[in-house]
Amino acid sequence: MTENNTISVIKKITTSLLEDALNQEEAVKSLNEIHTHFQRITEITGYDSKIEHLMTIPAAKGTALGLNYAAQCLIDYKRTVKFLKGIMAAIKEKQGKHPGELIHIFYAGCGPYATFLSLIAPHFTPKEIQFSLLEINRKSVDSAKRLIDSLELNDYVQEFYVADAITFEIPNPDSIHIVISETLDALLYRECYVPILFNLLPQVSKDITLIPENVVIDLSLLARSKEDHTFKEQNVETVLNVRETVASYNGQQTTPSHLPDKKVDMTSLDTDAYESILLDTKVHVYNDIWLDRNESSLTLPLEVVLQKPFQNEAIIFTYQLEPDIELKCSFQ
Ligand SMILES: C[S@@+](CC[C@H](N)C(=O)[O-])C[C@H]1O[C@@H](n2cnc3c(N)ncnc32)[C@H](O)[C@@H]1O
Repeated sequence: MTENNTISVIKKITTSLLEDALNQEEAVKSLNEIHTHFQRITEITGYDSKIEHLMTIPAAKGTALGLNYAAQCLIDYKRTVKFLKGIMAAIKEKQGKHPGELIHIFYAGCGPYATFLSLIAPHFTPKEIQFSLLEINRKSVDSAKRLIDSLELNDYVQEFYVADAITFEIPNPDSIHIVISETLDALLYRECYVPILFNLLPQVSKDITLIPENVVIDLSLLARSKEDHTFKEQNVETVLNVRETVASYNGQQTTPSHLPDKKVDMTSLDTDAYESILLDTKVHVYNDIWLDRNESSLTLPLEVVLQKPFQNEAIIFTYQLEPDIELKCSFQ
């Protein structure tokens, strides 16, 4: 098959993914087909046993996940479909606001398939959209370049940087309309989304669209019925709202070693009626598009059994960025 045909296949498949109400079976089939093409062209399968494909890459804070896992993100089906829908909607909205202007997308963490370039670009002309790509993993960059070359998508690429998005200074920040950075994991564990926002957001215009727009971690209480296996859930509160917290630093570019503590008062809650607490990562992709619980590896909830009797007055959550990136919790 010539890669011209591959582009037609990509365009046909992504058009149906973008237009139809999400049919999981079709999405799985379609993304697997695209994956097969990308595997053939890049020779990156996502399942190689080479150590360099498994290794995480240390960043200025946190780590970038290994190349295999970055490749497998393509087939995190609901994630990819929702991001494609969000990015398309964001481009269309920017085109409406800036008619006739080239829409410039800064893509931080493109991975080995530059997924959101290779699946989105064929829907536009290079006069309409262009990308600046940045990636910390040299092997991913080599693979993404090979794919972009084969698919003849080079005219959509302004620049390709091999760099750490946590410290990178964007050369032409005022030209950027959209920043994409899917550099996160459930509970924002280890990966770099938060320090990347601390670095990139103060550099670009306040009007840019960030995708994902935000990530929120919510706390709830959970009880399972032993009789009928139903469960009762009570939302408690949000323990971390990334965009709100980053904005509260007023564009100060030095990333803090940890974010302010969030104290959740437990005294007014009937903790005896619940067995566990549940921490949910909710990814706000764009506008009304959210990735909710269990829709993706990014939104797997964490359940922690409550020690009974629960005698603490509060749970304190701290999202730390040093020495490692992780959400910590303590009881008071
Ligand atoms: C979850 S993968 C997503 C890959 C692709 N964008 C997709 O959505 O399918 C995240 C990518 O971001 C890269 N990355 C993570 N932290 C980074 C950082 N601090 N600077 C640059 N790239 C980073 C990783 O190497 C990885 O390729």
